[in-house]
Amino acid sequence: MSERILSNEMESSEILEEMTLRPSTMDEYIGQDDLKSNLNIFIRAAKARNETLDHVLLYGPPGLGKTTLAYILANEMETNIRVTTGPSIERSGDLAAILSSLEPGDILFIDEIHRLSKVVEEVLYLAMEDFAIDIVVGNDGSTRALRLDLPPFTLVGATTRAGDLSAPLRDRFGIVSKLEYYTNSQLQTIVKRSSRVLRTNIKEDSVKEIGKRSRGTPRIANRLLRRVRDFAQVLNDNVIDLDITRQALSQLKVDELGLDDVDIRYLLGIIERFDGGPVGLEALASSISEEATTLEDVYEPYLLSIGFINRTQRGRVATPKAYEHLKIPLLQDLFSNE
Ligand code: ADE
Repeated sequence: MSERILSNEMESSEILEEMTLRPSTMDEYIGQDDLKSNLNIFIRAAKARNETLDHVLLYGPPGLGKTTLAYILANEMETNIRVTTGPSIERSGDLAAILSSLEPGDILFIDEIHRLSKVVEEVLYLAMEDFAIDIVVGNDGSTRALRLDLPPFTLVGATTRAGDLSAPLRDRFGIVSKLEYYTNSQLQTIVKRSSRVLRTNIKEDSVKEIGKRSRGTPRIANRLLRRVRDFAQVLNDNVIDLDITRQALSQLKVDELGLDDVDIRYLLGIIERFDGGPVGLEALASSISEEATTLEDVYEPYLLSIGFINRTQRGRVATPKAYEHLKIPLLQDLFSNE
């Protein structure tokens, strides 16, 4: 089993290292230029007015820097940040406890906010709009709602699936921003910066190679850099050159475009088992033994962005570009060559 370069789950050592690689100011943050310049304005305006920043919703594929941005917002606003996730807030009481412990101006970061339950979401509506929560007191015989005022705070929500958010929740965010895949040159700048932080000796062509194979995603670029650094340390006197980079990436089954074995199995699944599609996500996922949600959130956005698949009403389809990359002749080309 090859290492999952794309997995959303991280080991604790990796989380720690990711924190050290994480930029802490807007100036250090590379890419997402439009979003960054807008946020810079909103930060300056809110600070000048001595107000909290409006609630912010960040959405886009995993690994593009949503959490990093939340920490940067807290740093730039000079406030504390409380970090939690949608699925970990199980009951409305859990959310009430978090909200009532906030200090004025704090940022509350809720990752995977699309996974909040309906009842918890409803507590959040009032909290976001009026900085208050209703607590039900009393017993079966007589209950009444007690309104508890909260300090003003900023909710920063992050999600890979903006479409799964209910409209009332989405509407309560004053700032809604989509994160885009990074360009090769932005990824190269990030790899260079990370190598400086990690104090590694990396050649320019290796930086380029890692950037090219990081599928537009800084988290993957940083992961690949760390793995290539391991190979260089053990096999190449700590020097990261193109040869050791290519060797490491080939061992990790990361191809020229950054596709890993799940991407390849996904594409081969459509092409070989379903004649190129259309095939429904569930059928495809079970045929390659992967979770449908993982494919949808983690793998498909990039394959769509490089034009290897299309999502149609009737299901997923592999495009001629995918056939070409996998060196599989298209049926129609076979006939036309006869
Ligand atoms: N590390 C991870 N994401 C980054 C980014 N957008 N800018 C700088 N360093 C990063």
